[in-house]
Amino acid sequence: MRALVWHGKEDIRCDTVSDPKLQDARDAIVKVTSCAICGSDLHLFHNFVPAMLPGDIMGHEMMGEVVEVGSGLNGNLKVGDRVVVPFTIICGACEQCKRGNFSVCERTNRNKHIADKVFGHATAGLFGYTHLTGGYPGGQAEYLRVPFADRTHIKIPDGLTDEQVLFLGDIFPTGWQAAVQCEIEETDTVAIWGCGPVGQMAIRSAVLLGARQVVAIDRLPERLSMAEAGGAVTIDFEQESVVGRLNDLTDGKGPEKCIDATGLESHVTFALPDTIYDRAKQMMGMESDRPHVLREMIYVCRPAGTISIPGVYAGLVDKIPMGQAMNKGLTFRMGQTHVNRWTDDLLRRIEEGQIDPSFVITHTARLQDGPEMYKVFRDKQDSCVKVVLKP
Ligand SMILES: NC(=O)c1ccc[n+]([C@@H]2O[C@H](COP(=O)([O-])OP(=O)(O)OC[C@H]3O[C@@H](n4cnc5c(N)ncnc54)[C@H](O)[C@@H]3O)[C@@H](O)[C@H]2O)c1
Ligand SMILES: [Zn+2]
Ligand SMILES: [Zn+2]
Repeated sequence: MRALVWHGKEDIRCDTVSDPKLQDARDAIVKVTSCAICGSDLHLFHNFVPAMLPGDIMGHEMMGEVVEVGSGLNGNLKVGDRVVVPFTIICGACEQCKRGNFSVCERTNRNKHIADKVFGHATAGLFGYTHLTGGYPGGQAEYLRVPFADRTHIKIPDGLTDEQVLFLGDIFPTGWQAAVQCEIEETDTVAIWGCGPVGQMAIRSAVLLGARQVVAIDRLPERLSMAEAGGAVTIDFEQESVVGRLNDLTDGKGPEKCIDATGLESHVTFALPDTIYDRAKQMMGMESDRPHVLREMIYVCRPAGTISIPGVYAGLVDKIPMGQAMNKGLTFRMGQTHVNRWTDDLLRRIEEGQIDPSFVITHTARLQDGPEMYKVFRDKQDSCVKVVLKP
């Protein structure tokens, strides 16, 4: 089959590789009908997240049709079923899964021994996301092996297009969880840094959850207009002071809730001098991530407010003002998304027409155009916000 394969920094190719096979009674094979490129894939593209190996298949946002099932699925999944595959692989039975903490499932990371050493305790297996999360082949491919398939799926009823439901596997529940973690009240201002696909979903989620005011921050006009169309007031961080404007919009008090939908690759610009410092340290291997957004959120957040972090951080960050955070009494919530915790509710909201996540798609291309589309998405060419690939 054809698949998008990681060969090294900024080197992803569409290769012919062997078809996946059933390896366990709980496996299923899915013929992928649509998959997407995620902001998290860019961190792998840039080699900022360790433990990728040449030959690894990319992709963790995908859906398709079940074409083969193992003998141990207990009727939970059948050949012909249409499924979205969540990026988190879940067993459904461990202590964490029972509590709905799916992204820290205790049983699905096959490289638990390494991950225990790196993180202190291993987290869940993830598709297409390094050997620290199990080294599972991803879904930017014609076929995908889904381990623990009796639990690791979201069944999709007929009548909805791929585009309407594909993002249930990652960015939609990610933006939703980021907003839910803010425990939004009707008097709240929610500020969201980053108007990429995750930020866009967080904006719509914060609006659906009843925020008084949603403020979205980015520098790219097409992303800011999409944010505005979703109900946000926007700030261009290259044109105006983010802190000044957020204080203006909140009678000088700062937003109660702050969401970091940017993560470790904060934009580097002379306008934000600490980003130059971070870039230099990153190049010398003295810091893995560029945490400008975290610093800004801690500074501007209203005392006793909440900082919610869906943006991915990979390792070590420097100069985080813990004194400000501690003295202001801020609450921090973060994590990889517990996808299946949210998807029944979100699928219902799509079916009821409360939201159609396909609004975020700007580019659709063939799988073999994937390597080029990584660059288009990374460089925001042609006003690109979200790419869907058709194997
Ligand atoms: N927690 C999870 O489970 C999960 C799931 C999916 C994605 N993510 C992460 O969410 C983040 C966003 O993903 P995406 O797909 O939207 O990526 P993206 O790269 O398209 O979006 C990031 C956006 O942040 C903006 N940005 C950069 N510096 C900024 C700054 N200083 N202030 C405000 N905005 C700034 C960029 O212009 C860009 O529009 C990534 O870190 C990704 O890894 C996490
Ligand atoms: Zn993702
Ligand atoms: Zn589990």
